[in-house]
Amino acid sequence: MKIIYKRQLAIVLILLVKSFASIIYAQNLITNTFNRNTTTLNGIWNYIVDPYETGYTGFHGEVYDKSNPNATSAFFNNYHAKNKLELVEYDFDKSPTIHVPGDWNTQKENLLYYEGTVWYKKSFNYLLKNNSRVFIYFGAVNYKAEVYLNGKKLGIHEGGFTPFNFEITNLLIAKDNYLVVKVNNNRNVDAVPTLNTDWWNYGGITRDVILVEEPNVFIEDYLLQLKKGNSNRIAGSIKLNNLTTEEKVIIQIPELKIEKEIVVTNSNQNNFEIEVPKTIKYWNTDSPKLYDIVVKTNAQIIKDKIGFRTIETKGADIILNGKSIFLRGISIHEEIDGRRANTKADALKLLTYAKELGCNFVRLAHYPHNEYMLHLADKMGLLVWEEIPVYWTIKFVNSATFLNAQNQLSAVITRDKNRASVIIWSVANETPLSDERNLFLKKLILHTQSLDSTRLISAALLTRSENGIGIIDDKIGEDLNIVAFNQYRGWYGGDLATAPSAKWTTPYNKPVVVSEFGGDAKQGLHGTINERWTEEYQEYLYKQNLLMIEKIPNIRGISPWILMDFRSPRRMLPGIQDGFNRKGLISAEGKKKKAFFVLKSFYKKMKLLYN
Ligand code: GCU
Repeated sequence: MKIIYKRQLAIVLILLVKSFASIIYAQNLITNTFNRNTTTLNGIWNYIVDPYETGYTGFHGEVYDKSNPNATSAFFNNYHAKNKLELVEYDFDKSPTIHVPGDWNTQKENLLYYEGTVWYKKSFNYLLKNNSRVFIYFGAVNYKAEVYLNGKKLGIHEGGFTPFNFEITNLLIAKDNYLVVKVNNNRNVDAVPTLNTDWWNYGGITRDVILVEEPNVFIEDYLLQLKKGNSNRIAGSIKLNNLTTEEKVIIQIPELKIEKEIVVTNSNQNNFEIEVPKTIKYWNTDSPKLYDIVVKTNAQIIKDKIGFRTIETKGADIILNGKSIFLRGISIHEEIDGRRANTKADALKLLTYAKELGCNFVRLAHYPHNEYMLHLADKMGLLVWEEIPVYWTIKFVNSATFLNAQNQLSAVITRDKNRASVIIWSVANETPLSDERNLFLKKLILHTQSLDSTRLISAALLTRSENGIGIIDDKIGEDLNIVAFNQYRGWYGGDLATAPSAKWTTPYNKPVVVSEFGGDAKQGLHGTINERWTEEYQEYLYKQNLLMIEKIPNIRGISPWILMDFRSPRRMLPGIQDGFNRKGLISAEGKKKKAFFVLKSFYKKMKLLYN
């Protein structure tokens, strides 16, 4: 490794060791919004398509935010002509409408391929109670959001798959508040993800939008999970927002007869521990026990349902509650019926398919999914791999790109750290090898460990071969708990007939997971096992790959690519792909292909072997 990177790495290590002391989750992100005093802003919004950003800049490119924030031409001022003479060239209230949450691509036919700026506007009334505070919370906006309320800029958020919120207490009026959001989904070489992805660039306010009302000092965030390596103790933390003096917080787990009082003295993370009784029922995939939790202060009560379990690796084993497991998984994109999935019903449909397959594990690819997926995985007993879209050729040398990736990691870990189902944080997918990439990923790994030392860290790597032997020796594997890799024998090369006798090797004494394998099939297209795109070819590919995978050293799980067909601008074969990646075991219309049943019977066997 070049000297420069050793020095940079040393600096990073020092910085991150310091950050271990005080865990810094995503700045002021309000967690568990499901159980707060909220008002939904989901529903019909007006929108204006603005490819030239006319609502954002003047004709010489001067940005209204900076040069003239009161400009009547600035769309975020939601201006209406005062008389018949005045020149105003937009009008939200007379503009078409669109549903939020939802991507614009599949709601409006003329926006299917649109990449650029779309303005959204929602008007609402709000009666603010004394001594209350109000925040606007977005589940996600893809890709960049600039948010304004009543003409005032609240802030900017970059990253298409993580939540964010802004305080609006002092800007609210009783009637006709106008919330304007500038959404831009242009792809960008410095962004995360970067320019090239094998999924659709769905733009829009793609997840829930809510107003959250809080007391003056409120419970912003809390952690309640088993302490690393200790199944008898809960390691918790609590964060109160706007705390000026000390405040008493009560943590209750009634079923375990636990009541713990914590005196919180500052607005940072306040850590505590709770001994759990021997009667505790640990969360696992066959019996996903969730406990009712109460977190309360004088001014507020928040409830949650949390499962307690341990997860660790020992040599090549993945150990859940002290027992070695095999991850019977499937990869899932956040997509259903050919659109961005974003409701509880969507999540139920996707995860029910996974359960039908016999899965105990889902890889939520290639970005953080909506929160419904994680709460449902907790309830249904599905282990989860979550990842950020550090995908393919990310600009590893760019510090802003690293900060963006780090922020996305912080946000998803902050949001989901109480979900027992989440066992793996993944920092990359199929990223090309280089010193810069290794340093970038190593920093992300250290950041992840500083936020959450209890879960496992992985990445979907690529492999190489020598004399026909598959070699799993990506250097970053040294820093991962689980060495996962994607391979496409029989689709992007490699012979299927001899696959079962293929040899693999790895220098790592760690669990190995095949995070992707598979091949396309057009549902309903039938032929022989020698005809690509047929269901029979995909079925044969699964049979042969599974026979090969069973022999890979240290194999402890798979998450084949992929549960359902999904849209991709890279897949254009007429009559077969038509803008869809067809590697799904289920078509976009919900029809199962023959390979679905090959995987299902394999998992039936693996469940017997491992139980
Ligand atoms: C890659 C990549 C996926 C992609 C898949 C494919 O491994 O991780 O995002 O969709 O292969 O080529 O279908």
